[in-house]
Amino acid sequence: MSADARSTVDLDTWPHLLTEGSSPDAPVVLTLHGTGGDEREIAALGTALMPGAAVLSPRGRVSEGGANRWFRRLAEGVFDVDDVIARAHELAAFVVAARERYDLEGRPLIATGFSNGANIALATALLHPDVLPRVVAFSGMHPFGDQEPDVLATGVELLLLNGDQDPMAPAASVARLEQFASARGASVTRRSRPGGHGIDQGELAAAQEWLAGLK
Ligand code: MLT
Repeated sequence: MSADARSTVDLDTWPHLLTEGSSPDAPVVLTLHGTGGDEREIAALGTALMPGAAVLSPRGRVSEGGANRWFRRLAEGVFDVDDVIARAHELAAFVVAARERYDLEGRPLIATGFSNGANIALATALLHPDVLPRVVAFSGMHPFGDQEPDVLATGVELLLLNGDQDPMAPAASVARLEQFASARGASVTRRSRPGGHGIDQGELAAAQEWLAGLK
C-alpha cells in the first residue's frame, strides 16, 4: 500500500454513510458527490450501478461558499492541483480506514463519482491504484491540469462517461486524461454522448455493462 494512504484520518469526524449489501461479501461501491451535493444524494448512484452492493459514501470536506467539494479550485475548471493531490491522499486514507472499520477488506471496490466527485476519484485512482483500482467517472475531466504528477497506474481501470458539449468537463481535457492515464499503464474506456454535464440512462446502462465485464 502506498505510504500516503496509510496516514490516519479520523472517521468519527468525517461525515459518511455505509449501506450494507445483500451479502457479507458483496462488492463495495464508493460514491462521490459533485459540487454542492452530499453523501446521501449520491448514494443512490451506487445502488443503481450495482444492485446488492454495499455503498460507502463520504462527504467532500472542502466548502466553496457552503457547497461541499472534494478539493479547492481557483476558477471553474482551474484546479488547485496541490490540493487535489493532498485531498486524494486523504480520500485514499479514508477508504483504507473505512474498509478496516466496517469489515470491508478483501471485497471488490469500485469508485464512482459525478463531476467534482469523478475528478477526485480519478486523481485518487491514479495516485493510489492499490486503493481505488476501478473508477466509473460521470462528467469528469483531467484532475491534474498542467501539473501532472509522476504516477504509475498499472492495473487501474477507468470508465470515462462524458457529454461532448460539456463546458465544465471539456472534451479536450478528457482526451488528455485518457492519454495521460493510458501512457502510465491504466486501461481506459471512454464513451462520449451528445450533450452537456450530467448522467443519462444510456451512460448508466453502459456503466452496468462495463462493470459486469470486469474480471
Ligand atoms: C470540478 O471539479 O470543479 C468540476 O469539474 C466542476 C464542478 O464540480 O462544479
